[in-house]
Amino acid sequence: MKLFDVYPINDINIDKAFGSNVWDDKGQQYLDMYGGHAVISIGHTHPHYVKRLTDQLNKVGFYSNSVKIPLQQELAEKLGKVSGKADYQLFLCNSGAEANENALKLASFHNGKKKIIAFKKAFHGRTSLAVAATDNPKIVAPVNETDNVVFLPWEDQVALEAAFKQYEVSSVIIEGIQGVGGINVASDSFLQKIRTLCDEHNAAFIADSVQCGYGRSGKFYSHDFAGINADIYTMAKGMGNGFPIGAISISPKFQASYGMLGTTFGGNHLACAAALAVLEVIEQEQLIANAEKIGNYLINELKGLPKIKEVRGRGLMIGIDLPEELSNVKKNLLAKHKIFTGEAKPNVIRLLPSLALTQEHADQFLSALKQELV
Ligand SMILES: Cc1ncc(COP(=O)(O)O)c(C=O)c1O
Repeated sequence: MKLFDVYPINDINIDKAFGSNVWDDKGQQYLDMYGGHAVISIGHTHPHYVKRLTDQLNKVGFYSNSVKIPLQQELAEKLGKVSGKADYQLFLCNSGAEANENALKLASFHNGKKKIIAFKKAFHGRTSLAVAATDNPKIVAPVNETDNVVFLPWEDQVALEAAFKQYEVSSVIIEGIQGVGGINVASDSFLQKIRTLCDEHNAAFIADSVQCGYGRSGKFYSHDFAGINADIYTMAKGMGNGFPIGAISISPKFQASYGMLGTTFGGNHLACAAALAVLEVIEQEQLIANAEKIGNYLINELKGLPKIKEVRGRGLMIGIDLPEELSNVKKNLLAKHKIFTGEAKPNVIRLLPSLALTQEHADQFLSALKQELV
């Protein structure tokens, strides 16, 4: 049997990882400024994480949501505390797309309406509603096409107001910092405007925090910078440090009923142990403050480098917008300097490292980048 060939991959086989480094099967060391696509939040193979997962696996790895799983409540309490939303409710699932799918559905169950407002360059996942709310026709199959989603220009308050007048809006879904779209930070005033309009029109504010959440921006949710509360926060990537888990954090105004949402794997013992280990390390090692500190350092240094068109982002979610003629920089960082980075079109290098990134690692990256910018 062959693999279904959907990923353009690097010819590298990683077989060891620790902290912000990974090693290939030939023993070559790499610096991971990509965090396996924003997934590695506390660092690879963190000892506390490995121990918690191993201990859990030796007890029970999985049982379904038909029995009590106290780890779920433990996780809900910890997440409520660390995210500063102790009165919210937790629904556990397995991925970012699933989190957004459930959030969009829940909003519609709640207010009985259908129209979803999403934004240009948004990415919300590949399941049917999530992909319909993603601004990339190439990944929307004919069966996913729907009139229920309206795309508005990014940061256009006039268009937003007009859409609320024109449609019965069920929800507005927005990344606090667009990831796939090229690291575009939503302004405080735009997020505040969405909050006001959602309140006025009984619509749900869905904060897609799958990539920009979980402390990456220097706050738990990047939407927190605007001083607003969303109705539903969606999360995944950093939540399990590589163990597949996603979730939605739901405002107390939403009422649950049996069968409304559900999943086989979501919230299983092992996934909860992974998510708890991540939050414990985030707290103990003050990784959100570290993301802010090292992120600010990187952003300031990057802003002083030549040839870069623009540096965007917050904390350890950084976009380096390069001119066309420097389209080889990302490739060279990997081939010559052994540094993994992410990318976004047309020519943006995306930095999404572990929140535990050290200043030494940041300097290693900066020194390599400087050599490529001459
Ligand atoms: C903002 C955002 N939302 C949703 C998703 C989908 O997450 P997943 O790939 O876990 O389904 C992604 C993935 O890149 C994302 O960046």
